[in-house]
Amino acid sequence: MALRVRVCKVGDVVEGELRGFQVLGVTWPVMTTVIDGAIVAFPGVCPHDDVSLVDYGVLEEGQVRCRVHGYRFDLDSGRCEHMPNLALRRYRVTLVGADVWVDLL
Ligand code: FES
Repeated sequence: MALRVRVCKVGDVVEGELRGFQVLGVTWPVMTTVIDGAIVAFPGVCPHDDVSLVDYGVLEEGQVRCRVHGYRFDLDSGRCEHMPNLALRRYRVTLVGADVWVDLL
């Protein structure tokens, strides 16, 4: 069973930018961007040490780099190139009309 929540409007998600959206009842903002024409979404927390990717995340060539220790996470696979046992979760994205929804579970 999925726990699907509305995050934002499609137009709020911009290619080349990381944008975080607070969702009621969810601890960390939902981060979004566009990769190869598709909206991607993931939790706004670094899996290395629980810091905010709203504050410390930088989008670079299809990856998110956390500025705290410099680890990079591929937005397609979630893999961390520095620590193979770390991964950034990605949410399943569903577009409903002009709205972006993600499955938290
Ligand atoms: S806290 Fe993000 S790389 Fe260490």
